[in-house]
Amino acid sequence: MRKQIAAANWKMNGTYQQGEKLLNDILKEEIVLAAHQQVVFAAPFPFLIMANSEVADEPNYFIAAQNCYNKKSGAYTGEVSVDMLESINIKFCVIGHSERREYFNESNAVLAEKINLLLEKNITPIFCCGESLNIREANTQNTYVATQLQESLFHLTAAQMSKVVIAYEPIWAIGTGKTASSAQAQEMHAHLRSVLANQFGKDVANEISILYGGSVKAANAVEIFSQPDVDGGLVGGASLIAEEFVAIIKALK
Ligand code: 13P
Repeated sequence: MRKQIAAANWKMNGTYQQGEKLLNDILKEEIVLAAHQQVVFAAPFPFLIMANSEVADEPNYFIAAQNCYNKKSGAYTGEVSVDMLESINIKFCVIGHSERREYFNESNAVLAEKINLLLEKNITPIFCCGESLNIREANTQNTYVATQLQESLFHLTAAQMSKVVIAYEPIWAIGTGKTASSAQAQEMHAHLRSVLANQFGKDVANEISILYGGSVKAANAVEIFSQPDVDGGLVGGASLIAEEFVAIIKALK
């Protein structure tokens, strides 16, 4: 069975102390994960070492960075390299979040470079894709999202692709309280899986976890995650509230 993943994206929220308390409040619930289930916390850079030590003894709990730079090293003041993440034992990294695409002009080509650097270091990329409201209203979301995959991922071998996690996050559903319906999520996830199957083969596509993101909360997680091609969620706002995220973890298939 492919991995079912509850991923928290804390974005730029909270202090170090609040992050530590949030992690403690969630971990004290001692939710035992099945072998095919994982929980990932994408924490801000200054919290990563602390967060990694909090989950060190918790099987199938991991910490992710929220971004990395697309160059190996050098005179790039303020940026964080993949080698730096590897050196503190980080195993996941979110890339291509719509907020980075929008506010930091990240292109599909730059994301392809980040994917390469992460895979070289065995860090699992959580690759975000998703369309804006305009694109959804024009009903061109399927080709738009397929192009995001094509331009950032289609240079990979099937073996490399099998190490990538996809997060489908329709921009119109992020932070708006408006989720895609479970039918809309399923339809897009099935489309993404068929795009991946065409390029990498059916077996590889069937093993790739595709997470849904956009206003996931305790009240809707069971229904969304129960869709056959939805393999968990990437959660923003609700991941900052311990009891909400605990319920979201428990909603994993
Ligand atoms: P919300 O869950 O706050 O809508 O954010 C989703 C998201 O962007 C996760 O990466």
